[in-house]
Amino acid sequence: MLNIAVLVSGGGTNLQAIIDAIADGTIQNTRICLVLSNNDGVYALERAKKAGLESCVLSPRSFPSREAFNHALLQKVQESGADLVVLAGFLCVIPEEMVRAYENRILNIHPSLIPSFCGTGYYGLKVHEAALERGVKISGATVHFVDSGTDTGPILLQKAVEVQSDDTPKSLQRRIMEQAEWKILPQAIDLIAHGRVSVENRKVIVQ
Ligand code: GAR
Repeated sequence: MLNIAVLVSGGGTNLQAIIDAIADGTIQNTRICLVLSNNDGVYALERAKKAGLESCVLSPRSFPSREAFNHALLQKVQESGADLVVLAGFLCVIPEEMVRAYENRILNIHPSLIPSFCGTGYYGLKVHEAALERGVKISGATVHFVDSGTDTGPILLQKAVEVQSDDTPKSLQRRIMEQAEWKILPQAIDLIAHGRVSVENRKVIVQ
């Protein structure tokens, strides 16, 4: 059984996709051992509650320093017994000590086809604003392992989505979620739960 800690910051639609995929068997052999949010009052926490999942809030603001928050975050995840950490719209920088402790065991979903529209400052709607500003005809989503850079880790899955001429950042975001994110994130977790994923020379191999 793969124990996963899901880290969230907002609406939690990707968390919901994971919960639903476990319930309907799309993700097998997996249990959510913790939902952790850096923001109190977000809908993701409501989703966790409705699904009967253990959840907690750790806000950087309630710690005396970033180091103290980073330490508490790692401790909480370790205490949960997680084998895999899933960043499902978690908008805090993952501390170096956590990257080391969970090497190739932290997954992130990013709402573009990396290496386009990624890195520092590219998150949430900003990604889609930048894609529309550049006029790309295809965007999509990427699931990758987290390393010490921002969106630079080994890529596990990607899915392309067409941009439409009348798209707004919000309409593009929604289509990318529906057609890509909510599919490839559960798929990636299931592949890992089946022991089919390894990383060699910073590249992902799927068996
Ligand atoms: C998702 O679109 C996710 O890809 C993005 O935040 C959104 C969270 O939505 N993540 C990033 O931009 C990370 N750089 P959700 O809370 O409804 O899952």
